[in-house]
Amino acid sequence: MKIIFATQNKGKAKEVKALFENSPFEIISLYDLGNNIDIEENGNSFSENAFIKAKAIYNIYKESVIADDSGLAIEQLDERPGIYSARYAGENCTYEDNNLKVIDELKDFPTPHKAKFISCAVFYDGKNEIEAFGELQGKIINEQRGTNGFGYDPIFIPDGFEQTISELDFDIKNQISHRAQSFNKLKDKLVNSLLG
Ligand code: IMP
Repeated sequence: MKIIFATQNKGKAKEVKALFENSPFEIISLYDLGNNIDIEENGNSFSENAFIKAKAIYNIYKESVIADDSGLAIEQLDERPGIYSARYAGENCTYEDNNLKVIDELKDFPTPHKAKFISCAVFYDGKNEIEAFGELQGKIINEQRGTNGFGYDPIFIPDGFEQTISELDFDIKNQISHRAQSFNKLKDKLVNSLLG
C-alpha cells in the first residue's frame, strides 16, 4: 500500500523511509513527487500541526498520507522551543542559528539542562485519523558536536549515551528517537486498522 509522507525535511524523510522498510507500506516522499509546497503550520499542538500537514497533502493527491510534527522541549526554558522548534531563531533561520540561540538562553542555568524531543506521527486517508506519540529524553550541552542528523541533534545527548545524536550512527538514532517510537506505534496501528 502506497503512503505519501508529507515532509520537506530530508532528514525526516530518510528516517521514516527506513522505519517502514520491510513493512506492507511503501513510503513516497514529497521529494519523490517533485512537490516543494510550503504548508503553514498554525496549530496549537504537535497533533494539530501534524494533521494540518497530512490533510493539506491529502487534499492535493487524494491518497493516504502520513505526517509528523516534532520539536524540542527544554525544562529550564518552560518547554520551549516546543512547536516553534523549526523557526526558533526567526524566519529563514538555519539549524545552527537555533542551536546557538538555545545555548545562549541556557548559559546562566545550572547543568544538566534536561530536555526531550517529542514527535506526533499521524495518518489521514480522507476518513481515518490515526495518531501516535514518541519521546526521547536527554540533555542539552553548551557546544555543537558531530555532523550526522539535523536540527538540534548536535546539542542533544540522549539519556544513556555520552555522544550527541550528531555523533551517533544513523541506525542508532533511528532505533531510539522520538520519531522512531511514534512511527513504529503508528505502523502497528495502521496494520491493525487497515490490514487487520
Ligand atoms: P517540523 O518539521 O515542523 O516538525 O519541525 C521540526 C523541528 O524540530 C525541526 O526543524 C528541528 O528543528 C526540530 N526537530 C524535530 N525532530 C528533530 C530531530 O530528530 N533532531 C533534531 N531536531 C529535530
